[in-house]
Amino acid sequence: MTNYQVKTYEEYEEAYKRSVEDPEGFWSDIADTFTWRKKWDKTLEWNFDEPNIKWFQGGKLNITENCLDRHLKTRGNKLALIWEPNDPKERFVRYTYRELHEKVCQFANVLKKNGAKKGDRICIYMPMIPELAIAVLACARIGAIHSVVFAGFSAVAMADRINDAQCSMVLTSDGLNRGTKQIPVKRVVDEALESCASVEKVIVVERLGWAVNMVEGRDVWFHDEVQTVSKECPAEEMDAEDMLFILYTSGSTGKPKGVVHTCGGYMVYAQYSFTNVFQYQESDVYWCTADIGWITGHTYLLYGPLLSGATTLMFEGVPTYPDNGRFWQVVDKFGVTIFYTAPTAIRALMAGDIDDVLSYSLDSLKVLGSVGEPINEEAWHWYHTHVGKERCPVVDTWWQTETGGIMISTIAGVTPMKPSHAALPLPGIQPILVDSEGNEITENGVEGYLCMKFPWPSIIRTTYGDHERARLSYFSTYKGLYFTGDGAKRDENGLYRIIGRVDDVINVSGHRFGTAEIEEAINHNEHVVESAVVGYPHDVKGQGIYAFVILRDRPERDEYLRAEIIETVVEKIGKIAKPDKIQIVSGLPKTRSGKIMRRILRKVAEGDTSNLGDTSTLLDPEVVEEIKAGAL
Ligand code: WT7
Repeated sequence: MTNYQVKTYEEYEEAYKRSVEDPEGFWSDIADTFTWRKKWDKTLEWNFDEPNIKWFQGGKLNITENCLDRHLKTRGNKLALIWEPNDPKERFVRYTYRELHEKVCQFANVLKKNGAKKGDRICIYMPMIPELAIAVLACARIGAIHSVVFAGFSAVAMADRINDAQCSMVLTSDGLNRGTKQIPVKRVVDEALESCASVEKVIVVERLGWAVNMVEGRDVWFHDEVQTVSKECPAEEMDAEDMLFILYTSGSTGKPKGVVHTCGGYMVYAQYSFTNVFQYQESDVYWCTADIGWITGHTYLLYGPLLSGATTLMFEGVPTYPDNGRFWQVVDKFGVTIFYTAPTAIRALMAGDIDDVLSYSLDSLKVLGSVGEPINEEAWHWYHTHVGKERCPVVDTWWQTETGGIMISTIAGVTPMKPSHAALPLPGIQPILVDSEGNEITENGVEGYLCMKFPWPSIIRTTYGDHERARLSYFSTYKGLYFTGDGAKRDENGLYRIIGRVDDVINVSGHRFGTAEIEEAINHNEHVVESAVVGYPHDVKGQGIYAFVILRDRPERDEYLRAEIIETVVEKIGKIAKPDKIQIVSGLPKTRSGKIMRRILRKVAEGDTSNLGDTSTLLDPEVVEEIKAGAL
């Protein structure tokens, strides 16, 4: 495809070696293949102490010129976007690169007409409809910073994110389809905006044709606005280090943080990692099932594929509607060649009838990808055997919202593949394992905390509005290193296996939550005095949410209270953060200094109370017996 796609293991080794010995030369050669309005003056400036990381300083560009305009001559009539609706009976939508370019320009003009300008923050709260992809690119076109909020988050969660970034505009839809359900999205926006003073305009895209409340002077319909705007919109010139987007993610403390990515480095790494990991070829039909509301949707549904001139498929629905065969039906319908999904979806489908897979041909598939959480061996083998027919390499891609792109992964057909192993770092990525003192563990066949010792182009630059938080979260645990928050093993051959989070972050169906964030939500319930949340192994979700709750007064019927607590979490965060189990307890295992011993709670939640370790520092050891006896 491109001259920097490694096609053999030797080429990988060569690229890796150069990327470590001469990172600036390596990345500037790659960056040279993009369209810049002005070339950069300095390839890299960095230190991990502040942190201060700048790639391609002085370079001027617009990422949408690289996603769209530069393809018009050679790929104008090639399909850029295929959209498959929730209901298989509804007609799909297809846009060529020329058509998508025009749609993005029109949407950009609608934004401008409504007062948006470079540097403004725009919140996008939209379902998986083509206008979501178009809206994201339209923001980038005019230099507005997009902050996409997954449409499953609650009004409270949306309001927090809007206020944190001081967004001036919200882009949304009347409602959304999800399997058999229809959800009134605009109503959630209205509720959120009751506490968001910064928002001046709301642009509403019609999806369901529902009558919605339109606030005079604030809300406009996209279909009205688009009537009067031009189909041309010159792209705003951006500095390489200008912000491209903010995406909120959970950390181990309190409120979500706004991860900031910038234009130049993110662009270079999105395309580089996309073309390499999936071994993308011009004729591929590529499908990433992630929602654009998450980083996977940003980098590998939208930016990475479009930068590469690929045909990218976007799906509005869910894997189980109208039946468990939906993914495979869509693969056959469009001849999908590269398929990228999450272990949780695989495990959900594994639980169903095998004929739901076997009745489709799946002949077009060449490469399968997995992302978001560790893929257990059983799921890996099911995916490899029944979906990939043992013909398609499975790439287990490890990365994070903060890394912007895939960091450790098999390169399909090029580097080694091993079940449940992300395997080797991509060129340009320098992982190390450290012990709890931060000393590097250099041997193989070891386990440690996963860190990075050198910056890559799409590394997080800051957390929006609070640079110190970025420093504390990622660059202060181990001096001079970026700390991922994950524990990992490196096998005898140097292949990495990610074990999971070592901080108070849990990963539920590939979605990240801080235990503190869920506790805070639970504590909002008037009956709750205190709570402690831990993750536990869950067959489909990877991790489930287990909450231990102390009540003010114990009502007769616990089940009402449980339902009420769940309701509180749904209201504060969203349905995706619902606790799976709520155990009512009279106390929590605390040390004399008042710290909750989460280790004990994790053991109880896992159902493994045979060896709770040292409990001698507990204030009240008796409470442990009670908790063990009441375990769910
Ligand atoms: C956390 C990041 C960017 C991907 C979507 C999730 C876990 C992610 C894997 C994998 C094992 C994985 C890690 C990481 N994770 N991919 N292939 N194997 N664990 O992004 O919400 O920022 O979460 O997801 O624990 O730290 P995210």
